[in-house]
Amino acid sequence: MASPLFFLLLLQSFLVSTSAFSTTSLLNQTETLFKWKASLDNQSKSFLSSWIGDNPCNWVGIACDRVGSVTNISLSNFGLKGTLANLNFLAFPNLIHFDLGDNSLYGVIPSDIANLSKLTFFNLSGNDNISGNIPKDIGRLSSLAVLDLAWNQLSGSLPVSVGNLSSLSYLAITGNNLNGSLPQEVGMMRSLLVLHLASNSFIGPIPASIGNLSNCQNLYLFENELSGSIPTDIGRMSSLKQLHLQGNTLSGSIPQEVRMIRYLILLDFSNNALTGMIPKAMGNFSHLRHLYLYGNELSGSIPSEIGMIQSLLDLQLLGNNLKGVIPTSIGNLTSLVSLLLFDNMLSGPIPVSLGSLTSLNSLSLFDNKISGRIPPELAQATQLTELDLSLNQLSGEIPKEISKLTTMVYLLLNDNQLFGRIPPEIGNLLNLQHLSLAKNNLVGPIPKQLGNCFRLLHLDLSNNLIEESIPSEISKIFALETLDLSWNNLTGQIPQELGGSRVLEMLNLSHNMLSGSIPPTFDELKSLTYVNISYNQLEGPIPPIKAFLLAPFDALKNNKGLCGNAIGLLHCVSEGQKKSTSGLVVLIITPVLGVLSLYGQFNSNYCLGSRGYGNIYKAALTTGRAVAMKKLNPSDDNQSINLQAFEKYSFLIYEFVERWSLRTILSNPEEAAELDWDKRLNIAKGLVSALSYMHHDCPSPIIHCEISSNNVLLDLDYEAHV
Ligand SMILES: *[C@@H]1O[C@H](CO)[C@@H](O)[C@H](O)[C@H]1NC(C)=O
Ligand SMILES: *[C@@H]1O[C@H](CO)[C@@H](O)[C@H](O)[C@H]1NC(C)=O
Ligand SMILES: *[C@@H]1O[C@H](CO)[C@@H](O)[C@H](O)[C@H]1NC(C)=O
Ligand SMILES: *[C@@H]1O[C@H](CO)[C@@H](O)[C@H](O)[C@H]1NC(C)=O
Ligand SMILES: *[C@@H]1O[C@H](CO)[C@@H](O)[C@H](O)[C@H]1NC(C)=O
Ligand SMILES: *[C@@H]1O[C@H](CO)[C@@H](O)[C@H](O)[C@H]1NC(C)=O
Ligand SMILES: *[C@@H]1O[C@H](CO)[C@@H](O)[C@H](O)[C@H]1NC(C)=O
Ligand SMILES: *[C@@H]1O[C@H](CO)[C@@H](O)[C@H](O)[C@H]1NC(C)=O
Ligand SMILES: *[C@@H]1O[C@H](CO)[C@@H](O)[C@H](O)[C@H]1NC(C)=O
Ligand SMILES: *[C@@H]1O[C@H](CO)[C@@H](O)[C@H](O)[C@H]1NC(C)=O
Ligand SMILES: *[C@@H]1O[C@H](CO)[C@@H](O)[C@H](O)[C@H]1NC(C)=O
Ligand SMILES: *[C@@H]1O[C@H](CO)[C@@H](O)[C@H](O)[C@H]1NC(C)=O
Repeated sequence: MASPLFFLLLLQSFLVSTSAFSTTSLLNQTETLFKWKASLDNQSKSFLSSWIGDNPCNWVGIACDRVGSVTNISLSNFGLKGTLANLNFLAFPNLIHFDLGDNSLYGVIPSDIANLSKLTFFNLSGNDNISGNIPKDIGRLSSLAVLDLAWNQLSGSLPVSVGNLSSLSYLAITGNNLNGSLPQEVGMMRSLLVLHLASNSFIGPIPASIGNLSNCQNLYLFENELSGSIPTDIGRMSSLKQLHLQGNTLSGSIPQEVRMIRYLILLDFSNNALTGMIPKAMGNFSHLRHLYLYGNELSGSIPSEIGMIQSLLDLQLLGNNLKGVIPTSIGNLTSLVSLLLFDNMLSGPIPVSLGSLTSLNSLSLFDNKISGRIPPELAQATQLTELDLSLNQLSGEIPKEISKLTTMVYLLLNDNQLFGRIPPEIGNLLNLQHLSLAKNNLVGPIPKQLGNCFRLLHLDLSNNLIEESIPSEISKIFALETLDLSWNNLTGQIPQELGGSRVLEMLNLSHNMLSGSIPPTFDELKSLTYVNISYNQLEGPIPPIKAFLLAPFDALKNNKGLCGNAIGLLHCVSEGQKKSTSGLVVLIITPVLGVLSLYGQFNSNYCLGSRGYGNIYKAALTTGRAVAMKKLNPSDDNQSINLQAFEKYSFLIYEFVERWSLRTILSNPEEAAELDWDKRLNIAKGLVSALSYMHHDCPSPIIHCEISSNNVLLDLDYEAHV
C-alpha cells in the first residue's frame, strides 16, 4: 500500500508531465469560482445565476479542457462589479483565455497572474477602475499573445519585463495613468503587430529600440508627454501602416528616414513641437492616405513632392509656420477630401489646379497671406462643403461660378479685400448654413436671391460698403440665428418681414443709414438675445422685447429719435396720449421764433418722451432742420405760459439735440465714463454762457426757474444746451 505522500508526489509529477487535471487537485477550482462570485455585488451574482453545482465546465463563461480543467474565463460585458482579490489564479494552471473586459471591476491585478504560463489572452480593458501597477513579473507570461489593459486607472511605469513577452502580438495599455519613460525593452517584443500606449503620461524620449519592431503595423503613442526628437530608427519599422505620435512634446525635425516606411497609410505627428521643413522624401509614400502635421512649428514651404502622394485623402498642415506658395502639384491629389492649410504664412495665389480636386470636401486656407483673386476654376471642385478663405489678402470679385458648389455648407470669405457686388447667383447655394463676407470692400445691394438660402444659420455681411435697403427676402431664411449687416451703407427702412423670424438670436444693423421706425412685427422676435441698431437714423418706439429693453445704450445710441423703456432712451407716450395727439398740424409761430412753417406728425413714432407740462415730439421744419416740440397739456395752459404767443395749440419749440439730458447720461455708467473732466468743464462753461444770455443778452430777460441736470441737453459734441 503506497503512502499518501507517495501518491501526492506521483500526482504532482503527473500534473507537471502531462498537464492533465485531477479531481483531487489541491486547490478546488469550483470552490475558487464560488468564492469569487460571492465577493461580487448582488446584481453580478444574479448575472452568474447559472453558476451552481460542482462542475464549472458547463457554467456560463467557463470552458474546460478534455479532463475538466478550466481553460477559459470569458465574461466580457457581463456587468460584473467587484474586485479580482478573491479570484485565486493559482486554481487555474491551465487557463488560456481570460477575458473580463467591459465590466465594472476595480482594485489591483493580483500578481499571481504571472504564474499562468499557458495564458495567451488577457483582457481587462474598459473596466474604468482597475488600479495599481502592472505586475512587474508580467514578462513571465511567455505564451501571452494579447494583453489588453486599456481604459483603466493603472499607474506606475511600464515594467521592463515586458521585453520577455516574446509571443505578444497585441499590447494595449491606452487610457491609463502610466508614467515614467518607455523602457528600451519595448523594442524586444518582436512579435508585436499593435503597440497601443496612447493617452497615458509617459515622459522622455521614444526609445530607439522601437525600430526593432519590424512586424509592428500600428504604433499608437499619442497623447503622452514624450519629448526629444523622433528617433531615426523609426524608419526601420518597415511594416508600419499607422503611426500616431500626435499630442506629445516631440521636437527636432521630421527624420528623413520616415520615407522608408513604405506602406504607411496614416502618419500623425500633429500637436507636437516639431521644427524644420517637411521632408521632400515624403513624396515617396505611395499608400499614404492621411497626413497630419498640424500644430507644430514646421517652416519652409510645402514641398511640391507632396503632390506625388496620389493616395492622399487628408492633408492637414494647419497651424505651422509654413511660407511660400501652395504648390500647384497639390491639384494632382484627386482623391483628396480635406485640405487644411490654415493658420500659416502661405502667400501667393490659390492655384487654379485646386479645381481638379473633385473629391475635396473641405478647403480651409484662412489666416494666411494668400493674395490674388479667387479662381473661378475652384467651382469645379464640386464636392466642396466647406470653403474658408477668410483672413487673407484676396482681392477681385467673388466669382459667380462659386454658385455651382451647391453642396456648400460653410462659405467664409471674410477679412479679405474682395470688391464688386455680391453675385446674386449665391442664392443657388441651397445648403449654405454659414456665410460670411464681412470685412471686404463689397458694394451694391444685398441680392434678394440670398433669401433662397433657406438653411442659413449665420449671415455676416458686416464691414463692407453695401448699399440700398435690406431686401425683405432675407426673412425667407427661417433658420437664421445671427444676422450681421453692421458697418455698411444700407438705407431705407428695416423690412417688417424680418420680425417674422422665430429663431433669430443676434441682430446687428448698427452703423448704417437705416431710417424710419422699427417695424411693429419686431415685438414677436422672442428668441432675440442681442441687438445693435446704433448709428442709424431710426426713430420711434423700440419693441417691448427683452433684447431691446435690456440693451445697453451703446446698442441703441446715435439714432434720430428712439424712445422706450431702455437705458438712455426717453419714454414714449402712452397709448391714450398717442391717439389724442395724433394728426398733422401746420403752425405759424410768432414771435418767439419768427414766422416759420412747421410740419410735424404728432404720433408716437415721433414722440421723444414726456416732460414737465407736456409731451415732447421731434419735428422737422420745412428747412429740413430737426426741432423738439413740447406740446403743452391744455389743463396746464393757464399756468405760467403767455398764451398770446401761440395759435391754436400751445407749443414750445426747442433746438433738437441729438444726445440726451445730462441727467440721463450721468445715470448711465458707460456714458458717464465717456464724460471726462474736459467735457464736464465745457458743459459748465456752456451752461454759464446760456444763463448769461438769458439774463443779459436777449431782448427781454428770461428767468429759467428750473435749471437742473434734466434740462441741460447735450449735443453730439457734448455742447450744453439749456
Ligand atoms: C470542490 O468544491 C465543491 C464545492 O465546494 C465540492 O462540491 C467538490 O466536491 C469539491 N471537489 C473536490 C475534488 O474537492
Ligand atoms: C444582497 O443580497 C442579500 C441577500 O439577498 C441581502 O441581505 C443584502 O442586503 C443585499 N445587499 C445589497 C447591497 O443589496
Ligand atoms: C476559449 O478560448 C479560445 C481561445 O483561446 C476560444 O477560441 C474559445 O472560443 C473559447 N471558448 C469559450 C467557451 O469561451
Ligand atoms: C478587450 O475587451 C474589450 C471589451 O470587451 C474589447 O473591446 C476589446 O476589443 C478586447 N481586446 C481585444 C484585443 O480583443
Ligand atoms: C469607476 O469609479 C467611478 C468613481 O468611483 C465611478 O463613477 C464609475 O462608475 C466607475 N466605473 C465603472 C465602470 O464602474
Ligand atoms: C508562482 O511563480 C513564482 C515565480 O516563478 C514561484 O516562486 C511561485 O512558487 C509560484 N507560485 C505558485 C503557487 O506556483
Ligand atoms: C527575461 O527572461 C529571462 C530568462 O527567463 C530572465 O533572465 C530575465 O530576467 C527576464 N527579464 C526581465 C526583464 O524580466
Ligand atoms: C508616477 O506616478 C506615481 C503616482 O502614480 C508617482 O508617485 C511617481 O512619482 C510618478 N513617477 C514619475 C517618473 O513621474
Ligand atoms: C535591435 O535588435 C538587434 C538585434 O537583436 C540588436 O542588436 C540591437 O541592439 C537592437 N536595437 C536596439 C536599438 O535596441
Ligand atoms: C523616391 O522614389 C524614387 C523612385 O522610386 C527614387 O528614385 C528616389 O530616390 C526616392 N527618393 C527618396 C528621397 O527616397
Ligand atoms: C502633378 O502636377 C504637376 C504640376 O501641376 C505636373 O507637372 C505633373 O505632371 C503632375 N503629375 C502627375 C503624376 O499628375
Ligand atoms: C458710404 O457712406 C459713407 C457715409 O455716408 C460715404 O462717405 C461713402 O461715400 C459711402 N460709400 C459708398 C460706396 O457709397
